[in-house]
Amino acid sequence: MLKCVLATFALAGCLSAAINFDAERKLWILSTSTSSYVLGINERNELQTVYWGAPITRAADFAAARSTPDRSSFDPSATRTREEYPAWGGTRFSEPALKITRADGNRDVVLIFKDHQIDGDSLTIRLKDIKDDIVVSLLYRLHNGIIEKSSKIDNGTKQDLNIESAQSGVWSMPPGEGYRLTYVMGRWGSEWQLLREPIQTGMKVIESRRGITSHQNNPWFMIDDGEASEEHGRVWFGALAWSGSWRLTIEQTPYQQVRVTGGYNPFDFGMLLKPGESLSTPAFYGGFSDRGFGGASRTLHRFERESIFPGSRLRPILYNSWEATTFNVDEPGQKALAAKAAALGVELFVIDDGWFGARSNDRAGLGDWVVNKKKFPNDLQPLIAEVNRLGMDFGLWVEPEMVNRDSNLFRAHPDWVMNFPDRPRSELRNQLILNLARPEVKAYVFEVLDRLASTYNLRYFKWDMNRAFSEPGWAGVANQKSIWIDYVSSYYDILDRLRAKHPTLEIEGCSGGGGRIDLGVLKRVDEVWPSDNTEAFDRLKIQEGFSYAYAPKVMSAWVTDVPNMNRRSVPLQFRFLVAMQGALGIGANLNKWSDADLAFAKKMIELDKQIRPVVQTGALYRLLSPRSGDLTATQYVAEDGAQALLFAFLHSQQFNLPAPSIRLAGLDAKAVYSLKFLDGRVIEYSGAYLMSQGLELSLRGDYDSALIVLTRK
Ligand code: DGJ
Repeated sequence: MLKCVLATFALAGCLSAAINFDAERKLWILSTSTSSYVLGINERNELQTVYWGAPITRAADFAAARSTPDRSSFDPSATRTREEYPAWGGTRFSEPALKITRADGNRDVVLIFKDHQIDGDSLTIRLKDIKDDIVVSLLYRLHNGIIEKSSKIDNGTKQDLNIESAQSGVWSMPPGEGYRLTYVMGRWGSEWQLLREPIQTGMKVIESRRGITSHQNNPWFMIDDGEASEEHGRVWFGALAWSGSWRLTIEQTPYQQVRVTGGYNPFDFGMLLKPGESLSTPAFYGGFSDRGFGGASRTLHRFERESIFPGSRLRPILYNSWEATTFNVDEPGQKALAAKAAALGVELFVIDDGWFGARSNDRAGLGDWVVNKKKFPNDLQPLIAEVNRLGMDFGLWVEPEMVNRDSNLFRAHPDWVMNFPDRPRSELRNQLILNLARPEVKAYVFEVLDRLASTYNLRYFKWDMNRAFSEPGWAGVANQKSIWIDYVSSYYDILDRLRAKHPTLEIEGCSGGGGRIDLGVLKRVDEVWPSDNTEAFDRLKIQEGFSYAYAPKVMSAWVTDVPNMNRRSVPLQFRFLVAMQGALGIGANLNKWSDADLAFAKKMIELDKQIRPVVQTGALYRLLSPRSGDLTATQYVAEDGAQALLFAFLHSQQFNLPAPSIRLAGLDAKAVYSLKFLDGRVIEYSGAYLMSQGLELSLRGDYDSALIVLTRK
């Protein structure tokens, strides 16, 4: 007879999720709306992954966990068995989730099951070393379609432990080969470039060693069975919530086992745990979709809206002066831009870099967060009052983790900078990085932001961060390597305290473009800046890569001037429609816009206000990828299905060929939709027609574009 402990609960807007423990087989079945995850204890008392994939909730379907036998003296059972959280010890040769050196030099850790606890939507399984009081708590939490994992390491021994690797968790694929990995790579100005490649025996590492999430890789993955496409096939995926140095190893062992191990980057890692101390790791979220990469992204987006940034308001239309004025901000100039922005329908006016200290260029001023009296002789109040009078909220750019040598802050506190004594302090963009891990620096940064938010009628900070760590020293502390974690914890703590103290304050996360975007920061900011590259054609690929992991709602997207990067000039309509796929902003010099441009912009902003609920809370379908042809198309379907939006972009027409027809997705085949074009034309089609025959849009030439608003009749 089955003895089960069942905890079932309903998640907002989804099937009920459950944690089911089968005491007889020693199996836990974790079920979400779109996936199941099964764990078990084997005959050696080790915790094994039993299953990860489409929902299977019948406990009787699963046999108890059994270790995989030895194959030879070189292929022992311990390294072949799908352990849920393998520590480095015994005969384990794959990437460990935990590596520890005790003060006495002993480095062997072998974890076995200790106990477990189910508490509503959460499960804690505790593992313990076979001899010592080293206890690892594995924490699981269910969300809509997503399982959250993290770990906590407790030192119950009487000696210090040096933790050399502490991973959040391991996601093991069903045994087999032929999997493919999808991830992003990039650099400044070209973040989010999507890559897909076969997984082969060996280890692929994607990581950041830079102290921030990085432009180069981003901490998420998708793995498919080798056959998935945008809307079909099996895709497993995961994302790590950490804004510092992180690592994912995607490993295929010689035993046909593919696993993804993720958490703190073990590079230069070392956390000293004294007796009684513990270390927690960031959340590592995972899910499964049998609806291809598109289904996987939609599951992630929904989870983010419900669990990562729940209840956040629709993003306002923003104006930011950076690309218009760079450092040359002053009261009359900003007031003139504000008047033009307000006339277009902008809701939030943000002054970027240059308003503070001796900041006329990037060589001075960072650290001195007082208004530059040459540029704003009357302080900021008159500008803010004018912006508010024009009906807009006001926002301010800050880069509080940084300091220029040429600043009063650096002159007063040269020791606050991250450095190794008597070694060079490398500058990037002429700036040094404050050691936010130091309590007095953390207090200073909080005080600066709190003071600004309390003094001025601020609705918004754009929090920038324009360089990575270098020379990460922290003289005088017992364990300098803790800087990698303590810095990020301080950053999170400041954001949390600011938001708690100023509940209407919103924050944009920025790091010279998309250098610090992940689920950790997204719990604490309202939108993020994906890239400094605002060139609309490049942006199609940037936005596509971004959308694999992150919801359109939080994706800042500006319309800027041309010629832009690549010396490319694309039409204003194309630029607007690209940006309207995220949180629309204007970053252009409105003084240079013609009356016709301004009138067109006003019309598009009005339209954006009508359609943004669908973009920001609807389901995204990537119909045609900018990576695979001359036509890009995306579609957004409202949660209730009553409205949908089709965005289409022709890159470059050749040989007078018409653009291919676009087959829509996610509609009700039986329903009839009215389709409204930008020129006001309205036609009607059935959902079946639109999804099977598709729409032929007469896009012509280079950089033609269309937006069609569909309303279900
Ligand atoms: C980098 C950001 O990504 C830009 O948008 C702008 O804010 C500059 N920094 C200002 O220095």
